[in-house]
Amino acid sequence: MAILPIRRAGDPVLREKARRIRTIDKSILKLIDDMWETMYDAPGVGLAAPQIGVSLKLVVIDVHDPKHEKIALVNPEIVKRSGERRVDEGCLSVPGFRGEIVRSVKVLAKGIDPYTGKEVRIKAQDDLMAEALEHEIDHVNGILYIDYLPNPGALIALNDAPEVRR
Ligand code: NI
Repeated sequence: MAILPIRRAGDPVLREKARRIRTIDKSILKLIDDMWETMYDAPGVGLAAPQIGVSLKLVVIDVHDPKHEKIALVNPEIVKRSGERRVDEGCLSVPGFRGEIVRSVKVLAKGIDPYTGKEVRIKAQDDLMAEALEHEIDHVNGILYIDYLPNPGALIALNDAPEVRR
């Protein structure tokens, strides 16, 4: 396993629409191992492959919530979402900042579990998992949370306050 450098906003790879993964082979499983290690090292609660410079539809999420197991998802998609809520969000690719944006209350996502090869559906409601699913799936579609800010001045510099990053 390896800890890989995390790309920052401004890097074009973060703005690409990532490619679908056709075959979950050894190289994909190794990439996932590296993503877990990089995410935990950061530390963050989620990481998408474009954040380490790989333009593939692949995300890992661990929100440390007994309601939600940690999960790697290949070709993840939002199936359904509803409701609106304000969240205070951050991103490993936008270090040192956070911002308040609107996310969904209920999220249903799907993707392939790389360890079983089977499709899984994940439901989350009004919690960090719901936010992380939307945030990471945005990453594989070239979207950053800062895109949802009403204006660039709405980005808030972090002081020493604890943060949740993804
Ligand atoms: Ni992010």
